[in-house]
Amino acid sequence: MKLNRYLFKIHRILSWLLVPLMAAVIISGYSYTRKIQLVHRGAAFDLHNQLELPLILLLVAHVMLAARFELMRFHIRGRTVDFFLLILGIVLGLSAIYVDGRIPR
Ligand code: HEM
Repeated sequence: MKLNRYLFKIHRILSWLLVPLMAAVIISGYSYTRKIQLVHRGAAFDLHNQLELPLILLLVAHVMLAARFELMRFHIRGRTVDFFLLILGIVLGLSAIYVDGRIPR
């Protein structure tokens, strides 16, 4: 089925994008909390804050798609499963956007 192939490719790209993003979040986090002079402390703080939301959104997309493919292995598939994962992904993504933009520090 074409949808499966597209989603598989999308999942692969998103998963590998997560690797440098995760590394950047970890390195920038340590750069502003510890005495590591990899990045200037102020820049590290900004970078860390700005990458927070993209990381969470990408992680949500990754986990939803990974869950879809894992469930397929157990023959748990179909429109209901896709709908459930899509709604769950949207709810988690919107929650992250809400917390990021609306909840004060
Ligand atoms: C709650 C966290 C996570 C869960 C539950 C999860 C789950 C999974 C699962 C089940 C797969 C296998 C998918 C398949 O082959 O069908 C997978 C693959 C992968 N994950 Fe994650 N993952 C998580 C976090 C991460 C993070 C943080 C990164 C990156 C830093 C990451 C990077 C990858 C990569 C690169 C693959 C291989 C994709 C491919 O080449 O097909 N994952 N993940």
